[in-house]
Amino acid sequence: MVETIQWTGDGVVMIDQTRLPREEVYVTCRDYREVADAIRTMVIRGAPAIGVAAAMGVALGALRSQNLHAEFETICETLAKTRPTAVNLFWAIERMRRLYRSMNGRPAAEIRKRLVEEAIEIRREDIAINEAIGRHGADLIPDGKTALTHCNAGALATAGFGTALGVIRAAVAAGKKIDVFADETRPFLQGARLTVWELMRDGIPATLITDNMAGHFLKSGRIGCVVVGADRIAANGDVANKVGTYGVAVLAHENGVPFYVAAPISTLDLSLACGDQIPIEERPAQEVTHVFGTQVAPDGVRVANPAFDVTPHRYVTAIITERGVARPPFAETLRKLAG
Ligand code: MRU
Repeated sequence: MVETIQWTGDGVVMIDQTRLPREEVYVTCRDYREVADAIRTMVIRGAPAIGVAAAMGVALGALRSQNLHAEFETICETLAKTRPTAVNLFWAIERMRRLYRSMNGRPAAEIRKRLVEEAIEIRREDIAINEAIGRHGADLIPDGKTALTHCNAGALATAGFGTALGVIRAAVAAGKKIDVFADETRPFLQGARLTVWELMRDGIPATLITDNMAGHFLKSGRIGCVVVGADRIAANGDVANKVGTYGVAVLAHENGVPFYVAAPISTLDLSLACGDQIPIEERPAQEVTHVFGTQVAPDGVRVANPAFDVTPHRYVTAIITERGVARPPFAETLRKLAG
C-alpha cells in the first residue's frame, strides 16, 4: 500500500499527489508553513489525509518553535486557513489544541513530545478507522457488478486503505468479483491521476471514464452501486464531496442504483443543520482554463471553480462509518453513531 504521509526525523514526508501518476516523488516538509502550503497546493489532499497533515503540521510547528506558547496559536491558525471544506482539518487541529491546553503548566519539551505522539497516533488511528469502514461497507457492495466512484477517496486521500476505496478493497478481499468505474473528476483529475493508479497497483480491475459518461453507464444496468467519500456531512445527512458528486447521486437515484458515502465519524459536522451551511472552497481559475499547463480556454474568460458540491440527503442510500452504517432518517442515525 502506498505511504501517503509519514512522520520522520527529518520532517513530514508526503507523496506529491500533484505529480502522480507520472512521477512517484516524496516531499519533506521541515516547517509547519511548508505543511500548510502542501495542503493548499494539494500535494496532499482528501479530507482524512488533510486532517493527518494538519496534526503533523501542528506537531512540527511546536517542535521547531522558539517560544511554544507565543507561537502555538499562529501555527494552528495558519494550518486552519489552508482549505475550508474538509472538516477533518479543523477536527484534527482542535484535537491538537485540546491536548496542548490539557498540558498547561507542563515543561515545553514534554508538551512538544506529546504533540508529536498525538499526530502519529492520529495517523495510526486513521488507517484503523478506514479498515473498520471497509468491514462495515463490504457487505453493501453487490457481487459480480461494477462500483462507480468519483474523485479519489482511497489510500492517497487518507493515511492508508481509503474510505470509499477501502470499502471496495474490503469487498474484494472478501472474495467479491467486482470492478470499478472511476470518474476522471475534472478539473483536478483525481480519478484519472490517483484512483485508477491506486486500483491498478492493487490489481483491482478499473475503468477510467470522463465525468459526463457516468449517466450513460448508470442507466446501462452494469453499475451495482456508487460509493464515494465525503469532506463534510451535516446533521441531516447532506454530504459535501468533490464537485460532480451531486450529479452522480441524482443520476444514481434516477436509475435505482444505491448511492453510498463512506466517511469517518470525524467527517460529521453535527453543528450544521444542513448542507447549505457547509463552506464551499473556490479554487484558482487556472485549474479550469489550463490542463497540465496548457491553456484550453480563451484569455480573460470568466471562470467558476467550486471544489465541492452538496448532495442532499434524500439521494444518499447509506453512510458507512467506522462505527457502523447509518440509513435514513440520518438526523437520528448519525447522531446515534456520533454518540
Ligand atoms: O479536493 P480534494 O481532492 O481534497 O477532494 C477530495 C474529495 O472530495 C474526497 O472525496 C473526500 O475528501 C473524501 S477522501 C477519503
